[in-house]
Amino acid sequence: MEESKRIPVHVSIIMDGNGRWAEERGHERVYGHAAGVESVRACTEAAVETGVRYLSLFAFSEENWNRPEHEVHTLMELMVKAMRDELPTMMKNGVRFVVLGNRARLSSSLNEMIDDCEARTAANDRLVLVIFLSYSGKWDILQAAKKLAAEISSGQADEEELLSMGVDGFDRYLVTAGIPDPDLIIRTSGECRLSNYLLWQAAYSEFIFTGVLWPDFRKEEFRAALAEYARRDRRYGRVK
Ligand code: FPP
Repeated sequence: MEESKRIPVHVSIIMDGNGRWAEERGHERVYGHAAGVESVRACTEAAVETGVRYLSLFAFSEENWNRPEHEVHTLMELMVKAMRDELPTMMKNGVRFVVLGNRARLSSSLNEMIDDCEARTAANDRLVLVIFLSYSGKWDILQAAKKLAAEISSGQADEEELLSMGVDGFDRYLVTAGIPDPDLIIRTSGECRLSNYLLWQAAYSEFIFTGVLWPDFRKEEFRAALAEYARRDRRYGRVK
């Protein structure tokens, strides 16, 4: 197989293990999140270097709002700081920045900052970096169904169109519309579950579960995951 065919177009990562990484070192959990930002930077660079076109990261789930207020606040602050600090590097490396999730739950100042960062990087075309923030897979499917229902009741879409709709038609209502489904989903820290992540979009993703904690997942680990992906045989339910 050609080398380019073995590079996944879209790599998605469930970044897990920041808290344990910090606790192992006798620090507060938030110390692990700060170290995790370094891994975000390293994996973004590795994605650009290897020719991955979409890198998506599960940064904060709808369920994560139930964490202690101090931790939620610190995570949001880290997001703001990362956007501010990394913008020049994203511009230099041709990275387009996109945030997907239930944006209505984010503060207006964070939303404004995200809008600004998305607008400034909109023309960059080397890598799309998608940050899933206040996201859950069930929420995404539900908001898609509601959008579709609203279009039907307002006459924007008709019933016949709905009844003849295929899977691709529904894709257009998900927040990931226009983004190819992840070829590879990596979860760090030894947990082997999807945790309400891209439920619809993960239908044919390859999975890699690694015991490495997210703050220790750097370029070398990213490249090793790509090498493992290259050895996988994807059949999409067909026979060879
Ligand atoms: C999971 O570790 C990690 C998170 C919930 C947050 C991930 C966020 C970052 C790395 C920071 C900012 C991100 C960007 C995109 C700049 P955990 O806290 O669940 O760890 P544990 O399972 O060991 O408790």
